[in-house]
Amino acid sequence: MGDDPVDLVRLAEHLAADVGQEVVRQRARGLGQVLTKSSSTDMVTEVDKAAEALIVAALRAARPQDGLVGEEGASIEGTSGIRWLIDPIDGTTNFLYGLPAWGISIAAADEDGPIAGAVAVPSLGELFSAARGHGAHRDGEVIRCSDKADLATALVGTGFSYQPDRRAEQGMVLSALLPRVRDVRRFGAASTDLCFVAAGRLDVYYEAGLAPWDLAAGEIIAREAGAALSDLQGGPIRAGSILACAPALHEPFLELLGALGPPD
Ligand code: IPD
Ligand code: CA
Ligand code: CA
Repeated sequence: MGDDPVDLVRLAEHLAADVGQEVVRQRARGLGQVLTKSSSTDMVTEVDKAAEALIVAALRAARPQDGLVGEEGASIEGTSGIRWLIDPIDGTTNFLYGLPAWGISIAAADEDGPIAGAVAVPSLGELFSAARGHGAHRDGEVIRCSDKADLATALVGTGFSYQPDRRAEQGMVLSALLPRVRDVRRFGAASTDLCFVAAGRLDVYYEAGLAPWDLAAGEIIAREAGAALSDLQGGPIRAGSILACAPALHEPFLELLGALGPPD
């Protein structure tokens, strides 16, 4: 298999969908041990780890020359120039509480960033995906971001860090933002937030403090759906900071964030 974005997205779709179904089956049998990671609110279950192991084993079998990195510790250097970024369950808090916004997020990246990605959201029965230059899809149907141009009536999604001090700062920015937009949503999974921008369900999504595996698949899906993307200062996306929105909202939202003091 070469580095054709369409081959890569087919593999990502297939893995995200299959592992999503397996995760649903495992959840029905129980969550196993629940541990914490970076803070008392940052949780990980045995299902997260088992899902990552399944994805890694399948990628190693299909593309042994590729590198990969996963949230639960997988890390392999490759030789092909393709590196996979895996969040086996993005939205673990929702997964634990039985809330619907969690997904299996799998992306392939080259030196220019994500080239293909898929996010399966089993609770919604939806599979989002995109390959560079080939558009974004939900269950095979083309999706496009919203054409909203008025910030005052824009629906904005965001998320919060697991670090209490950073959360306090993010909350202050949010309270200043809230009266300036239609409303705010905090669904609890960065990958699905980005897919919701891609599908026009959110007009804007911004967040600071994310890891590369939170962003990679959703980034290519939002980009291929026509969204404008940058970091929170308007520069190229970097690990930790992302704004994805309807193109006409990009400048006004950056201006508003800048005036509030960027949550970064
Ligand atoms: C988290 C979710 C959440 C975001 C956090 C992420 P996890 O990922 O994407 O929406 O606000 O910053 O860490 O821990 O559920 O995989
Ligand atoms: Ca995550
Ligand atoms: Ca995760």
